[in-house]
Amino acid sequence: MSDIVYLNGKYLGREDAKISPDDRGFLFADGVYEVAKYYYGKPFRFDDHINRLQRSLSEIGIEYADISGLFSVFKKLIEANKMVDKHAGVYLQISRGTYKRVHHFPEDIQATVYAYAFVLPSFTEKLENGIKVITNEDIRWHRCDIKSVSLLPNTMLFNKAVEHNAGECILIRDGLVTEATHSSVFGVKDGIVYTHPLSNLILPGITRKVILEICSTHGIEVQERAITEKELYELDEIIIAGTGSEVTPAIQVNDRYIGNNKPGKITRFIQEKFFELT
Ligand SMILES: Cc1ncc(COP(=O)(O)O)c(C=O)c1O
Repeated sequence: MSDIVYLNGKYLGREDAKISPDDRGFLFADGVYEVAKYYYGKPFRFDDHINRLQRSLSEIGIEYADISGLFSVFKKLIEANKMVDKHAGVYLQISRGTYKRVHHFPEDIQATVYAYAFVLPSFTEKLENGIKVITNEDIRWHRCDIKSVSLLPNTMLFNKAVEHNAGECILIRDGLVTEATHSSVFGVKDGIVYTHPLSNLILPGITRKVILEICSTHGIEVQERAITEKELYELDEIIIAGTGSEVTPAIQVNDRYIGNNKPGKITRFIQEKFFELT
């Protein structure tokens, strides 16, 4: 049986879900997206994802009135695709809609709304043993705070990681660590947790927010300041965080080992507290 997906108010078999080649999402990557995780049928931080979506839409001036209906759309996708007893994700994309190809934003067009559910297991082996990461110059634009579907730089950079047998690519802009291609980045040095401050250069990650809450609750000192490229190699621990990555330790950066090539104590503690919340 094919997946049931959601497109513009309808639930359809995936093969019946069709959009126009003149959709601005296709022509210009003129759209935004979200990915939320469901642990055994329960959404994790759903409101945070919706608030971020609302902000992304408003930053690029897409009007979509039915945001409050998304909770039941996602729930229905999880149920209809029999994922209530699994770890699942819901992908949602909203593009500005279909119009002849013009650069300005056309008025009075209907946004295209597409969503589907997919099985998203926790990557136990990676969570347990950690991953290798590589670094690369952050070649993305200056509005990384918008969760835009324009992800070509991210896919090019992640592909590079895959070619180097690495699990992520940490991005460096002007000598400073921003984030990774689809994850937030944390470093630990002498018991203090560091991460890039919120700005136009990073996505305001929901997992990032949860980790900061965990640190605050448990008295772990945090400094929201960017890690320099030089400091990166001298960290005791590195965490790669995201809806898919959850709280994954990085134990190697390029050819250099981090800490003693094992996930560190603070990473373990944050992982434990994170999974208590999910
Ligand atoms: C560039 C980038 N940074 C960070 C994240 C992590 O965000 P979240 O924790 O909300 O999944 C993502 C997730 O897709 C991302 O694409």
